[in-house]
Amino acid sequence: MNKIIEIKNLRKYYHDKNGETLAIDNISLEINKGDFISIIGTSGCGKSTLLSILAGLETKSEGIIKYNKKNFKIGYMLQKDSLFPWRTVLENCLIGLEIEKTITKEKKEKVISLLEKYGLKEFINKYPSSLSGGMKQRVALIRTLAINPDILLLDEPLSALDYQTRLTLSDDLYKIIKEEKKTAIMVTHDLGEPK
Ligand SMILES: Nc1ncnc2c1ncn2[C@@H]1O[C@H](COP(=O)(O)OP(=O)(O)O)[C@@H](O)[C@H]1O
Ligand SMILES: [Mg+2]
Repeated sequence: MNKIIEIKNLRKYYHDKNGETLAIDNISLEINKGDFISIIGTSGCGKSTLLSILAGLETKSEGIIKYNKKNFKIGYMLQKDSLFPWRTVLENCLIGLEIEKTITKEKKEKVISLLEKYGLKEFINKYPSSLSGGMKQRVALIRTLAINPDILLLDEPLSALDYQTRLTLSDDLYKIIKEEKKTAIMVTHDLGEPK
C-alpha cells in the first residue's frame, strides 16, 4: 500500500458567538494512492470541515495529519459550479496552471485532450453559459485535474443537479477519476432517491 495521507485522532472545534461547535470528533483515516473514498453524512456532520482542513483552508484543533511529501498538491472542487462566465471552457480549465505560472504547451494540450476525451470537444472555445449542469461539473473536474494534484477533494459535486443528471454525472466523475488514476475523496449527503 502506498499511503499518501494519514489522519490520526482529528478533532475540530469552531468557536463563535453561539459558543463551541464540535464539528469533527476523533476521526482517523489512512488514504492510499488510487483510493476513491466516499464520505456520506447528513448536513452539518462535518464533511466540508474535513475537506477544508485537508486543503489547508481551516486549521485543526487536535490530532495529526501527515502527507507523504512536501508540497503535497490538493485539487479542491466545490459544490457549486464555480466556472468563470467570462472565460471559455478552455480558459477556465487553464486557470490553475496560470495561477501556478506553470503553463506549458504540453500541459495545455493535455487539458485539451481531456476535454476531448470526456465529451466536451465542441465546447472547448464556448462559454459556460452554453453548457448543461452536468457538463459544467465535468469541466470543473478537468480544471481541477489540470494542475495534476496528488489528491482530489470533491465537496458534494452533484448536489446542485437534478436527480437524473446526478446519476449520470456520478458515473462520469467516477470514471474520469479512475481512468486518470487519481486519488479522491468525495463528500455527499445523499445517494438515493430524491426526497
Ligand atoms: N466557520 C464556521 N464557524 C462556526 N461553525 C461552523 C463553521 N463552519 C461549519 N460550522 C459548523 O460545523 C459543523 C459542521 O459543518 P460542515 O463541515 O459544513 O458540515 P457538512 O459539510 O457535513 O454539512 C456544523 O454544525 C456547522 O454549523
Ligand atoms: Mg458541506
